[in-house]
Amino acid sequence: MWRRHGGIRRHERFKVIDFSSNLNPLGPPNELIDAIKSCVSEEAYRFYPDPNYYELRKLLSRLYGVSNDELVVTNGASEALTLSLLTVMRFGINTLVVISPTFSDKELMITTKALGFKTLTSLMKDVGNKFILDCEEVVNLVKSKKAAILLSNPNNPTGTYVPLKVLKYIAESVREGYLIIDEAYLEFTNKSSATCLGMDNVLVVKTLTKIFATPGLRVGALISYNKEFIEVADYIRPTWNIDSLSECVYSKLLSGESFINYFISRTKQVISDWRSYMITKLRELGLVVYNSVANFVLVKHEDIPSSELHSRLLREGIAIRRADTFIGLSKYFSRLCVRSPDDVNKLVVALGRVLKCL
Ligand SMILES: Cc1ncc(COP(=O)(O)O)c(C=O)c1O
Repeated sequence: MWRRHGGIRRHERFKVIDFSSNLNPLGPPNELIDAIKSCVSEEAYRFYPDPNYYELRKLLSRLYGVSNDELVVTNGASEALTLSLLTVMRFGINTLVVISPTFSDKELMITTKALGFKTLTSLMKDVGNKFILDCEEVVNLVKSKKAAILLSNPNNPTGTYVPLKVLKYIAESVREGYLIIDEAYLEFTNKSSATCLGMDNVLVVKTLTKIFATPGLRVGALISYNKEFIEVADYIRPTWNIDSLSECVYSKLLSGESFINYFISRTKQVISDWRSYMITKLRELGLVVYNSVANFVLVKHEDIPSSELHSRLLREGIAIRRADTFIGLSKYFSRLCVRSPDDVNKLVVALGRVLKCL
């Protein structure tokens, strides 16, 4: 399976302005860099991590407002997603409905098929400048099935947020099954977490990699109020699924509760301001920009396929994410993460040059 994601590689980092990876544009905070230095000087990497991640689990539970026995520590959101699938399967679920277009949806089809799931897709509807979820369609798809529904909220790449009352309605309709909500980008928004629903059949996927811009330090979590579910998921997760450097760094960082709150709220404000600027500038170029609550926007450019736009912008030193790799999106879609007005001005100049010569 050939996996396609946004993001540039380490050796490319000085060559391009990266609009392709959905990380916090403020970058990792200095406090995190200090924690890395401190963990390296303690030679954390020479020791096995705590197989129970006692400290990290406690701190993540505090961060997400749940208790220790309602959370499993995972290697980013990716592992939390896989773990949620393995665990629902253990509880008799054999059908998965994926709300697309969404993160990794083509790969998910392959993975879930390999696991033995019957996997169905429900496509969000493109209604001009936003995508909406057809919750009746979703509910009908799962009717009288032992099913789980997977939704990323806010959704990558559409930037859509599905309100809690809709999630509650779906979770109630799938009483015998599960609703898995991937909240990898929730910390960039002013929206509420699905943990607020307090429902036993809602599973919530979390990650620190996006908000702290550290995809190379992999910490996330799977949350559920169903303690039996969490116990089983914790048995299934591999021992030492997080390396000791990541464990050490994030245990130090998360212990500074007031700093974390400050950093997250500053990020929300910056994202909201920079996103408004970016959307305005892109719309001035005549592009269709979809409403987004997240740290990225989906763009439609009907005059040029995304493969060509991608390679032309790369020549101008700008990386964007082709979005034609997502289920349900045509070759005229790209995704751009929110960056500073300075970077957006450079993007607009480069885009202007490309679009003028079509
Ligand atoms: C919606 C969504 N979920 C999960 C992930 C994976 O996150 P992590 O790096 O924490 O595994 C991504 C990464 O792009 C994502 O967009």
